[in-house]
Formats: sequence, structure tokens, C-alpha cells
Amino acid sequence: MAKNRSYSCSSCGTSFNKWSGRCDGCGEWNTISEDVGLSSGPGNKSLGSKRGTTTSLTDLRTKETPPPRTQSNMSEFDRVLGGGLVPASAILVGGDPGIGKSTLLLQAAAQFARGGLKTIYVSGEESSAQVRMRAQRLELTDASVQLTAETNLRDILTTLEVEAPGLAIIDSIQTMWLDTVDSAPGSISQVRAAAHELTTFAKRKGISVVLVGHVTKEGQIAGPRVVEHMVDTVLYFEGERGHQFRILRAVKNRFGPADEIGVFEMTGSGLAEVANPSALFLGDRSTPTPGSVVFAGIEGTRPVLCELQALVAPSPHSQPRRTVVGWDGGRLAMILAVLEARCGIPFAGLDVYLNVAGGMKITEPAADLAVAAALLSAREDSALPPDTVVFGEISLSGALRSAPQTENRLKEAQKLGFTGAIAAKGNKELGVSKIKLCQMSNLIEFVGEIFGAG
Ligand code: TYD
Ligand code: MG
Repeated sequence: MAKNRSYSCSSCGTSFNKWSGRCDGCGEWNTISEDVGLSSGPGNKSLGSKRGTTTSLTDLRTKETPPPRTQSNMSEFDRVLGGGLVPASAILVGGDPGIGKSTLLLQAAAQFARGGLKTIYVSGEESSAQVRMRAQRLELTDASVQLTAETNLRDILTTLEVEAPGLAIIDSIQTMWLDTVDSAPGSISQVRAAAHELTTFAKRKGISVVLVGHVTKEGQIAGPRVVEHMVDTVLYFEGERGHQFRILRAVKNRFGPADEIGVFEMTGSGLAEVANPSALFLGDRSTPTPGSVVFAGIEGTRPVLCELQALVAPSPHSQPRRTVVGWDGGRLAMILAVLEARCGIPFAGLDVYLNVAGGMKITEPAADLAVAAALLSAREDSALPPDTVVFGEISLSGALRSAPQTENRLKEAQKLGFTGAIAAKGNKELGVSKIKLCQMSNLIEFVGEIFGAG
């Protein structure tokens, strides 16, 4: 019987069943090699007749106490972790280069150290002197964070084993290399192997590790995506370069809610926490502006109000423009189609621009109605009633669906001085008395009521 060989590319990880000089997956030359070690793995060869030992089994009734957590007292950071750092957990912090990951983690490391947790910061990108200079600028020099500039993972693991800190920060996973892996640092095999070593080390020794990962332009291949499944928590640090606001978002968390966000502002002296993000994402609303609508959203466990801005103008092009920042372009196309098909309001021949203020990214379907309101308001050049928030999902039939956590949204609106809300029908008694809630069941009703036309 012919031996089943398998080959894979050390740059992008694509598997092949025969060797070739160039990888079809990423176009690199001389990166394909035979997978040794896999040849005796499952799928290639049966386990044979040798028996293993039995593993111990427990039932679900065994009582577990929730893990103790260490707070950094950076409340936005703790919130995203689900209430603090869990011992022996592995956390990935991903983000574009230059977005502020090193700054955030140095500040967090200093906070943990001030709280009495032994913390080691391993920098593979900057020298210790550079990190110290940054710490000076951020006024963190009083914190007892231990620094090292090292990329050899074998040495790092030995150091961590000897020092036994509570928390180790590895900045970044792409610079780490293992001498047992035969490819360059940053390649998929190195990143994967390094992350595997670090996460298993964390579990074995009870040390929490934070891995910093750059999202690469070329489709994240050698980026943090390959390690997402190995870690307990995945956080993404996002924001627009031109804006000073940064959002730390939990996309996976084994110890807390996913989708939680922490909001920071990049200042001259590091990242400042933003305790009230709604105030930040709302523009100046002293004069009512056509095209501007306030959406009452929910991010994780917290309501956040933000402003949507639309501009609709006659298009000089045969293919009108559809430009979206901070929202899904496909979803915009859907809403334009529903407005045209169900309400008879065409956008053909018109350029449409939609922007979420402050560099925020919205993923909730409940923003549909706010988007439709912004588009109509811009098209009709008529501003919405002032001090009103809008939320609700639009279905393809034009029917409106109520959004979850209506009460929380209304409470936040009330807190920020709003007096009215437009939402989908379907909410019973709500304990938010100061807000005049206007409920509608479909988009035609909404258009008639707010813009006085069908
Ligand atoms: P950095 O943390 O190095 O980004 P990353 O580790 O994600 O690559 O942040 C770099 C940017 O942050 C840099 O362009 C300058 C800016 N910055 C400030 O605006 N204020 C500060 O206090 C610091 C330390 C950085
Ligand atoms: Mg960095």
C-alpha cells in the first residue's frame, strides 16, 4: 500500500497531497515541505492494538467555585475581561499595527503590578530602553513591572518558570521563535507553535499570559486568527487612525460575556478610560441637522448612544456611490432596497454616504431603523424631531422588529437628556417615564409619521 504523505506550506498553512515548488495558497516559493510527525497521527494510520490508559471521568454535579479574579483597577479593561484577570488564563489582544496595543498593555501591566501582582513584560519589538522611555512618558515608572527584550521562546519560558510571575505579557507573538520550528518568526508555523507553547505553559504553571498579535494586511493569515482557538479570551483593539477613540472588544471569552467593549481615548500621555462612551459618540446636537440620527445601541452589557450621519446627493456617475464607514455595506444595500420596494422611495441616481460618528463600529441589526431614518432625513433634507433616539430591526417585508433590551436603551437616552424615542411595536409597559416612546409596526407607517409622505 502506498504511504499517505501530506505536505503543507510553512507560510500560509495550506495542505497539499503532493509537493510543488510554489504554494498555490499564498504564491510563496520553496515553502512547501512534508509533514513529518503527522504520518503516524490519526487519519494516516490506525492506532493499532496497543491500548492506552483510562482517563478519569466526572459528572456535571461536581461543584466548582468561580475563578478568583485580579482587578487592574482600569475599569474598562477589567470589564472587557469579564470582571478581571482569571489566573492561568491565556488572552490574545489583536489589532492593527500602531493602534496602541503596546501602550494599553504597558498601562495594564503597571496597574496589575501596583495592585501587587508580579508582572513581566516581554518585548520582542522594542528594546528595554524604548519601553522604559514610554513608561516614563506615561508616568508608570513607579510600578514594579519587570522588563525583558527577548524573542527566543525557550529562554522566555525558562525565565518565566524561574520567576513565576502572576502575569506575563508577550509583545508580540509574531516576533517569538522556537528553535524546534524550521521557519522564520512571524510565519504561521512559528506563530502557532509559539502560541501553543505559551498557552500550555500558562495552564501548567498557573501564570496568566497576554499575547499581542498584529492583524496583517494580507488577510490575517499569519496573524492572530490562527491562535484564536487556543486562547481563553480574544480581545480586539480597534479604532480609526484619524480618531483618538479606541475600542477594546471581547470577541471570545471563556470567562465572561463576549461582545463587551471598553472605550479609551488616546491622549498625549497614553490611553485614558472613557467612562461614559455615549457622550463621546454623540456629535454637537444644538442645531437639528438633516441626515443626523441618534441610535440607541447595546454593546455587550452596556447601552451606548451614537450618532449616524447620512448624506444623499445627486450622482454624476452612472453607478452611484454607496460609501459606509462603521457599518455593514451589505446591510445598507438591503435597507435601500426595502425603502425602494416597500415604501416606493428610490435612491437610484443618488450617491449615498453613511458614517458612524467617532470611529465606532456598529454590528447590531437594531441600527436598521436608525439608518433608514438617517437616509430618509438626508434625502428629504428634513431633520428628525430633536432629542429623539431611534432603534429597531427592519425585515425584508418592511415590518419592524423590536430590539432586545429596550428598557436599557431608553434609560441611557433619558440619562443623556433625550425626551423621545422611535422604536418597533411590541414592548409592553416600560419603566422609563420621561421618554415619549413612539412605537411603529412597519416602515411605511414610520415614513408617513415622521416625514409626512409615503
Ligand atoms: P503602540 O502602542 O506602539 O501601538 P501598537 O503596539 O499597537 O503597534 O502605539 C503607537 C501609537 O500610539 C503611536 O502612533 C503614538 C501613539 N501614542 C500616543 O498618541 N500617546 C501616547 O502616550 C503613546 C505612548 C502613544
Ligand atoms: Mg507594539
